[in-house]
Amino acid sequence: MDTNLVLPLQDPILLQHKAMQSMFDCFDGLCEGSLIVDRAARVVWINDRYAARLDIDPVKAIGQEVEAIIPNSLMRQVVVTGKPILLDIIEAANQTFVVIRMPVKDEAGEVIGAVGFVLFSHYEALKPLFERFSKLQAELDKAHKKLAEARRTKYTFSSFIGDSPATMEVKRLARRAALLHAPVLLHGETGTGKELLAHAIHAGGPRAHKPFVTVNMAAIPENLMEAEFFGVAPGAYTGADRKPRPGKFELAHGGTLFLDEIGDLSLPLQAKLLRVLQEHECEPLGSNRVIRVDVRILAATSRDLEAMVEAGLFRMDLFYRLNVLNISLPALRERLCDLELLCEHLLEKMVLEDGTSARELSPEAMDFLRRHTWPGNVRELRNVLERAVMTTDEARLEAADFQGLVKASLEQPMDSGGLSSNLNYVQAMAEAEQRILDTALSGASGKVVEAARRLGIGRATFYKRMSALRQLSPNGDSSPNRDLPIKSS
Ligand SMILES: Nc1ncnc2c1ncn2[C@@H]1O[C@H](COP(=O)(O)OP(=O)(O)OP(=O)(O)O)[C@@H](O)[C@H]1O
Ligand SMILES: [Mg+2]
Repeated sequence: MDTNLVLPLQDPILLQHKAMQSMFDCFDGLCEGSLIVDRAARVVWINDRYAARLDIDPVKAIGQEVEAIIPNSLMRQVVVTGKPILLDIIEAANQTFVVIRMPVKDEAGEVIGAVGFVLFSHYEALKPLFERFSKLQAELDKAHKKLAEARRTKYTFSSFIGDSPATMEVKRLARRAALLHAPVLLHGETGTGKELLAHAIHAGGPRAHKPFVTVNMAAIPENLMEAEFFGVAPGAYTGADRKPRPGKFELAHGGTLFLDEIGDLSLPLQAKLLRVLQEHECEPLGSNRVIRVDVRILAATSRDLEAMVEAGLFRMDLFYRLNVLNISLPALRERLCDLELLCEHLLEKMVLEDGTSARELSPEAMDFLRRHTWPGNVRELRNVLERAVMTTDEARLEAADFQGLVKASLEQPMDSGGLSSNLNYVQAMAEAEQRILDTALSGASGKVVEAARRLGIGRATFYKRMSALRQLSPNGDSSPNRDLPIKSS
């Protein structure tokens, strides 16, 4: 029998309403929570089961903004966009829920509210989904933890070895600086421990458990520096790198940003950096999103920033912003009484890290090392010790083990004037001049202005002579001392 012939066609509007009502009742029965909000995302109805789960009074919830009872709710987004979010997983009140959210529209198609249905994690059919979610969540937590550990500092003040008055003073200043928020400028020759001290300052302050992030101005090409600092918005670049990338400022939020080799930053980038330091906010490349940043700035350089300011190579305003607290790290030749402790520490570290057998230094070996000027400072010392350890299996390292490992000045026979005897005239003159400059510099604790004053020459001349001598030197640019062994005055 054809039913169409017998039954009259039902009213489609009425059927549509009935369908909607049945669907709602069905969902409401199936789900353990239902919620309706108005166009302003205020709760107009919440079922008792959901209220009980959230531990709230369903009557008191009416009229409240939805986020007041479910902090990470996306119901407002549905109301604003008019688009449903058909399957979502959220965490609230220490529980995991699957949520379906749909807009409610009037006859004219205008959004007048939204309805949300909630399924709880114990719902059998959802078990595989929740298990997968929990697994991914655990993996994500683990990755976050690993990343946080990697960003934690490696060194503390006790890692900064030495008990000479110069070292004690550096540690005293650094300990005080650790407790403050102001920027610190660390200045010292290569290998004097600027990076080590930056780690220690972070670890000794209130931000110790927040990230410590380093940007090395010398290691990053200028055209990539901006992205490195401020990050990249999704799709900012066409081609391979379409993914968003957070900048170092964003990564360091709440913690410390270490601007290493700050003297190598180009003038245009100095201007951009200054703006962020002044306004405490930055914009990832290709976005108009402004990110607020709360970072403590530590900067390091082996260059004479004051001289660079005078020469127009470094912005004065940025220099003053960074140079609030200034710590000058002494060169190793200025604290030779730390040499023994440092050797002991570095040899011990080698045993722990590289598995070498324990070694000690004979008094003659110590004397030999004390006569070197250590232009590469502690890094050079570590390198020399490592190489000496490799050349012998003896537990005690002798002076002979270091022959050939430290700079030529120690090895070459000296004439009565203290100059190497097998040099030609130009080399001998260069060596003599180098000594004059070095002696003046050590006498002035590494301060160029003072050293130049003592020699009765101008600071610019001092620099010019240093630079000319470096080019004459057989080591040339490969010298471990990449920059002038100087300090700002
Ligand atoms: N006082 C110290 N005690 C123990 N180790 C030190 C000390 N100073 C430096 N070192 C070690 O010497 C090496 C160089 O130190 P660091 O990288 O901190 O120097 P730097 O001043 O940043 O040099 P550069 O200007 O070349 O970057 C590191 O292995 C560091 O652990
Ligand atoms: Mg460094």
